[in-house]
Amino acid sequence: MVRTRRILTILCATAAILSAAAASGAEPIRITVGAAGKDTINRNIYGHFSEHLGRCIYGGFYVGEKNTLVPNTRGMRNDVVQALRKLHIPLLRWPGGCFADTYHWKDGIGPKENRPTIVNTWWGGVTEDNSFGTHEFLDLCEQLGAEPYISGNVGSGTVQEFADWIQYVNFGGIGPMANLRRKNGHDAPWAVKYWGVGNETWGCGGNMTAEYYANIYRMYTTFASSSWGKSPIFRIASGAGGGDYHWTEVLMRDVPHWMLDGVGLHHYAARWGSMGPATGFPDEDYYDTMKRAWQMEELVNGHAAIMDKYDPNKKVALAVDEWGGWYAVEPGTNPGFLYQQNTMRDAVLAGMTLNVFNNRADRVRMANLAQTVNVLQAVILTDSVHMLLTPTYHVMEMYVPHQDAVLLPVSFASPMIYAGKDTMKAVSVSASKDRNNITHISLVNVDLRVAHEIQLAVGDGVKKVSGRILRSGKVQDHNTFEKPDAVKPAEFRGAKVEGGMVKLTLPACSVVMLTVN
Ligand code: AHR
Repeated sequence: MVRTRRILTILCATAAILSAAAASGAEPIRITVGAAGKDTINRNIYGHFSEHLGRCIYGGFYVGEKNTLVPNTRGMRNDVVQALRKLHIPLLRWPGGCFADTYHWKDGIGPKENRPTIVNTWWGGVTEDNSFGTHEFLDLCEQLGAEPYISGNVGSGTVQEFADWIQYVNFGGIGPMANLRRKNGHDAPWAVKYWGVGNETWGCGGNMTAEYYANIYRMYTTFASSSWGKSPIFRIASGAGGGDYHWTEVLMRDVPHWMLDGVGLHHYAARWGSMGPATGFPDEDYYDTMKRAWQMEELVNGHAAIMDKYDPNKKVALAVDEWGGWYAVEPGTNPGFLYQQNTMRDAVLAGMTLNVFNNRADRVRMANLAQTVNVLQAVILTDSVHMLLTPTYHVMEMYVPHQDAVLLPVSFASPMIYAGKDTMKAVSVSASKDRNNITHISLVNVDLRVAHEIQLAVGDGVKKVSGRILRSGKVQDHNTFEKPDAVKPAEFRGAKVEGGMVKLTLPACSVVMLTVN
């Protein structure tokens, strides 16, 4: 084991030296960004996910109104809400995840003292007192200015329960569920547009076959009537795990497209069975994670190609409603809580993955990073009254200008990284033009050692460029409650305009966002 690691380290070092040598005499990478595009980057690509898992809801978003020192508005942490508002968080998925297919929504409405206490069987076997339910979630979304995305219970629920939930939140007329909502203090209906029909129905949501689930999906959506609300709902089928292309094929083939608005896809950059630590990892772990993260590009293209076959007009969206890095939990924490720290590795992973989504804006119209607070690749960590923003938060914040901007075509050939037996692209780029005609270009250098010279030809020419950068001394660097600003964005002064082009050196292991006009 030790010997293998030594050989790997030597291989990595040799590879780094070779690629550094290549880069020192290398030609600059020439990147062309088109002047116009046809697809809009749907802001929902920048969506998040909140599950009743560990300290995501309880302690993360919600502390209740009583017995807490944390400043809150109707129980929602003010610090977390304010931080997420700066991300212009467009969409929040809830209540799971695996939890969703055990969740009976009627447990979470009405006076809190009457709500049943249940066991969270998926996540740590802890007590769930249902004090955060439908009203609280929709209040949270209103405080955040985010659209709610509710995942319905297919695995252990019923068609009736699912249809009733939609009526409860969306129906303005007289009816048993709408009346119950009024009795519980909310007269006007909300207008919840996004509804998931089960979660991972191939796994924790029921271990179904694709063919069986396609029929179940048809039945659920038959009764999930759009007429409960003023506008039609957007129905998202539980999608494939990673490269299960058969799953997408069956859904696209067997479900009539008038019943289908989105098909999910889940992919985590995780070394299943032998998770490494979230911090203090060796370089080979970093490259292993990045290789798995780059798979997102292949997966999105693969699933999109199947969807194109059945839906050439791209009516159905690909919704990557769970993604992110997944490592071993922090030592001493409950293994069922999936609490992990977040380093520059996660920043690079996020920047590169978001570029993949942007570049497939024609088909990827929703994505949800797992999970917003205190779970997996969180953007925020909390500890009692304290809160910190992770490097992933900063990338999400730097990428805000891409939301709802027009995707611009980008062409270039990335240099490759040779780490051990793995090769992968070193540089990832996406570009967009906002409604004020300003171009935003996000560049990520995955390489840990080699900086890259870049020449950017942008549209009809460039007059001015400015930028921001996220980088740190080591890829393992992260923010702690003692040093919450150890990793944070800075002004990027390394880009200049020369001969109508932008020239810059993209530092190793960095995320840069340029503003060009
Ligand atoms: O995000 C954690 C879990 O990962 C979700 O509950 C499940 O959908 C996925 O397997």
